[in-house]
Amino acid sequence: MSETTTPSDKTAQVRPTSIHAHGLVKKFGDVTVLDEVSMDVEPGQVVALIGPSGAGKSTFLRCINLLERPTSGTITVGDLTIETSTTVSSKQLSDLRRDVGMVFQSFNLFPHMSVLRNVALPQMRVLGRSKDEAESRAMDLLKRVGLAEKADQYPSRCSGGQQQRVAIARALALDPKAMLFDEPTSALDPELGLEVLEVMRELAAEGMTMLVVTHEMHFARDVSDHLVVMADGRIIEEGDPKQIFTDPAQDRTRRFLRAVLDR
Ligand SMILES: Nc1ncnc2c1ncn2[C@@H]1O[C@H](COP(=O)(O)OP(=O)(O)O)[C@@H](O)[C@H]1O
Ligand SMILES: [Mg+2]
Repeated sequence: MSETTTPSDKTAQVRPTSIHAHGLVKKFGDVTVLDEVSMDVEPGQVVALIGPSGAGKSTFLRCINLLERPTSGTITVGDLTIETSTTVSSKQLSDLRRDVGMVFQSFNLFPHMSVLRNVALPQMRVLGRSKDEAESRAMDLLKRVGLAEKADQYPSRCSGGQQQRVAIARALALDPKAMLFDEPTSALDPELGLEVLEVMRELAAEGMTMLVVTHEMHFARDVSDHLVVMADGRIIEEGDPKQIFTDPAQDRTRRFLRAVLDR
């Protein structure tokens, strides 16, 4: 999978790709945390994944980019298919990790490096870009998330919302074809969460394929194209977000929505 665009091409746009998980099972010892979970995220689609704590949402995301090794099941990202119950080659692993960016609840920036360096370094390490190329791309992305003026600061001089936007820029700098988000605003004050959600909203509008675990019900209802509800390691309901919010088919979904919306 080689891109024909060059990194110096400012208009370079990576074509978003699909993510398909089929029959993912994850067991920790004899506890089944994911029980045959299948999901399709089409190119450019934004899927929100919600559900009670312990449902297996984070485990599912971590399984998709193989931060966690599924017990069995198939993962397909674009034209890369990985049968997880057999040996996964290091080439498959690095291709998958390069194509699928991930943003976590905790931002995990390097505290001893400037914001610019945090965004530039992975490009040099993973994509072999030169320092100049990587820094130029980093600067473009920092502008895009509204943080050009923070480029030379250490992360500790940035608010949580700013740090999470740097983490998003860092993930985008590797030109991912799809992005996974695991509760990216849950560690932030509501107001700082909004600036992160705004960046995610723009990314969605630009056509990025996104799978977003979120407790932000506005985002789930208004930004996502498709809503998936998980509980106890299974998908219990999925469909049109507004439909599910208005009239869920499952009692379990209704109880969950009532609990989060009443908070
Ligand atoms: N490394 C692990 N070892 C054992 N159990 C785990 C591990 N990671 C997650 N779990 C369990 O898997 C279940 C699902 O967790 P998680 O995926 O974090 O759920 P969610 O993100 O929906 O809150 C929980 O019961 C959790 O305790
Ligand atoms: Mg979680």
